[in-house]
Amino acid sequence: MHMRLPCVLLLGLLGLAAGAQAQSVARGQALFESRCVACHSLDANRVGPALRGVVGRTAGKASGYFYSEAMAAATHVWDVPKLKTWLTNPETVVPGQDMNYRLDIPQDRDDVVAYLASVSVPASPSDPSSNPRK
Ligand code: HEC
Repeated sequence: MHMRLPCVLLLGLLGLAAGAQAQSVARGQALFESRCVACHSLDANRVGPALRGVVGRTAGKASGYFYSEAMAAATHVWDVPKLKTWLTNPETVVPGQDMNYRLDIPQDRDDVVAYLASVSVPASPSDPSSNPRK
């Protein structure tokens, strides 16, 4: 009987963490749809490159998109911290880039990047088609 309470608490906390993550993704999607889709979509190149799979992708490599010279020459791989820095001020990540759009509120950046990560399912290393040539 005395063991039950901590257990319930722990499960409750785990549930909260998962709930907070889902909430962040949902909020991030809404932000993406209001702040990014003027220029981006997940699957098509528009003013900006398609963003599905951007987490884990080398910068400047969406196929068929014509990047600025600076972005085309970039060599870093996008991860969560790098994307948050990009959305804080793209110019500090790739000087000479052409996006020049920022999210000023840290929570907004966290949520949008959580959303981008959720649509960037990591490719399985055992799947040869998931290993695109650069
Ligand atoms: C005014 C148009 C515009 C808006 C709004 C915009 N972007 Fe961009 N974005 C671009 C352009 C243009 C590029 C390509 C820059 C270059 O080639 O230098 C880009 C590039 C990127 C890249 C790099 C992709 C890659 O393949 O390396 C990411 C990530 C990105 N944008 C995320 C976002 C997110 C997230 C938002 C919304 C918060 C957003 N952008 C809003 C125009 C925009």
